[in-house]
Amino acid sequence: MDLPIRPRRNRKSAGVRALVRETSLSPGDFILPLFLHAGAADEPIESMPGCTRWSLEGLVKEAGEALALGIPGMVLFPAIDDSLKTAGAEESFNAEGLIPQAIQALKSAHPELVVMTDIALDPYNSDGHDGLVVDGEIINDETVGVLCHQAVCHAEAGADIVSPSDMMDGRVAELRDALDEHGHEKVSICSYTAKYASAYYGPFRGALGSAPKAGDKKTYQMDPANRREAVRELLLDEEEGADIVMVKPAGPYLDIISELRDHTALPMAAYQVSGEYLMIKSASKDGWIDEEKVMMESLMGIKRAGADIILTYFAKDAARLLTQQTR
Ligand code: PBG
Repeated sequence: MDLPIRPRRNRKSAGVRALVRETSLSPGDFILPLFLHAGAADEPIESMPGCTRWSLEGLVKEAGEALALGIPGMVLFPAIDDSLKTAGAEESFNAEGLIPQAIQALKSAHPELVVMTDIALDPYNSDGHDGLVVDGEIINDETVGVLCHQAVCHAEAGADIVSPSDMMDGRVAELRDALDEHGHEKVSICSYTAKYASAYYGPFRGALGSAPKAGDKKTYQMDPANRREAVRELLLDEEEGADIVMVKPAGPYLDIISELRDHTALPMAAYQVSGEYLMIKSASKDGWIDEEKVMMESLMGIKRAGADIILTYFAKDAARLLTQQTR
């Protein structure tokens, strides 16, 4: 063949491939989501094999291990006792609650750790919704008021980043105001900018016992069919003062990550959610796919699409592998 141009020349050896590689992953890209509860035992999570509902002590130890692997940040998700759940979700801003305690324990053991907290009411709300429910409706503005109390409470305890995952309108601006008013202008906001109403969250809701008691989340989380709407949410979050924007889930929404990447200079995060994790875990359990390889490929895809930061339950496994590879 008369073929002067041969793309395969750039793939001919591991060395050449390393030189022309366009995307790289590093442990510094990851945020590890951690579940915790008020109990003294570390409990395996049935709906999420390989994940644990940590006691405070276990949480601090786990965070230390992740940090030692080069993972800079963790995001905390609390399993709240049913007896503390109310229609007003008051436990969400209890200064002596589980999350403030965890933030303090983590920051005093590991001051350099980036502690991020989830801002939403679903773990605390007897209705299992991210917002307050009145007559079956998730009410926006009153919810935002409670979210502000929650964010200030987490900031007072020492959180570095608060991360609203509730999808209420106007919450980023209100959170910024509330944080600044309380002297927390250094606390960042990582907004779940495009969070879709996804069935991939199922195992997570099992882990926290936080599934909605009635209805679904479609009046606040986004319709999976929509792409332009994600840009609209992005423009609002930028204007309202978000420091980092996020797309969630990640794998089935790579086009959204790429679209938002083209529209913003802000750092972008993507959340590889529980269902994505479990699909890889369960398909590899019986050897149908190679867990390590598929895990790394899924993370590379998310990074390549334009995410700077990846929230993933695989963070420790991936960091371990990346550290071995560079040796
Ligand atoms: C709740 C929240 C959810 C997740 C993160 N924060 C669930 C939901 O919106 O129902 C899902 C994470 C995952 O599935 O891994 N505000």
